[in-house]
Amino acid sequence: MTLREWWQQQRQRAPELAAELDWLVRQVTGWDTLTLRWAGATGAEFLPQLQTLWHTYIQTRQPLQYLVGTTPWRDMDLQVAPGVLIPRPETERLVDVAVHWAKGWGLTTGHWVDLGIGSGAIALGLLRELPDIYVHGVDCSSTALQIAKNNAITLKLNTRLTLYQGDWFTPLEHRRGRLQAMVSNPPYIPTDLLPTLAPEVQYEPRLALDGGENGLVSLQYLVQTAPGYLAPGGLWCVETMSGQTQAVVALLQQQGGYQNIQVYRDWGGHDRIVVARWGG
Ligand SMILES: C[S@@+](CC[C@H](N)C(=O)[O-])C[C@H]1O[C@@H](n2cnc3c(N)ncnc32)[C@H](O)[C@@H]1O
Repeated sequence: MTLREWWQQQRQRAPELAAELDWLVRQVTGWDTLTLRWAGATGAEFLPQLQTLWHTYIQTRQPLQYLVGTTPWRDMDLQVAPGVLIPRPETERLVDVAVHWAKGWGLTTGHWVDLGIGSGAIALGLLRELPDIYVHGVDCSSTALQIAKNNAITLKLNTRLTLYQGDWFTPLEHRRGRLQAMVSNPPYIPTDLLPTLAPEVQYEPRLALDGGENGLVSLQYLVQTAPGYLAPGGLWCVETMSGQTQAVVALLQQQGGYQNIQVYRDWGGHDRIVVARWGG
């Protein structure tokens, strides 16, 4: 059987998983679907690996990214593994928004923090875009920190990243009042929604997803605590679940010291990112 024949057969068997199948084939072969359509008899050397991975996925619905061990994100290939959240395409927008305002507000040097760094996606995306910043990355998960470290080393960005294990801002007492920016994609899914998520998501760490009763527990903490750590004029930027941005804007307004509060949509058109400037 040729690779193309196998691919077409699997597509017919599970048309609802066509996007996942195409993703896997692309990751393993480096070919897009157009190349595959014209592949003829070539590519048979990839078949054993693809068959094993696809069979495991169909049987278990473990995320393909965990099975392959990497995921493309922005212009990087990031290591992922069980115990760390798979970075989502929507989060790429957070980096764009933070970079835009870092340039607009003159924050392209100095010390930044990525709270809940996970695989390192946001921090590493920022380090590539802003060559004069230094990032402090915090996570309570030692698995996440190990993977963030591996990714930073692979991308040769580890000299501008320090990792800390701890609870949000707690390891950063020494940076009080001196951070140029805080970025975070915290857990924000309401606890009672977790069982309704796709089978693949059930394999991801609950700690990375569970945002408490209304999903806003961590976001509220970040609104209230960041002022103690940001320098005057510092950037505050988070991702939320679709539908939460107005609640986050209200929390920022109630705090009283934030300025330039703005909401951005992800590429799917959903309000997902909130940015503000700490007035000091
Ligand atoms: C939604 S994931 C985001 C991961 C990564 N930044 C990304 O965007 O792909 C949230 C991260 O916050 C971490 N986290 C959860 N509670 C935390 C806490 N109290 N202190 C520090 N990190 C925490 C989780 O371990 C997880 O890595």
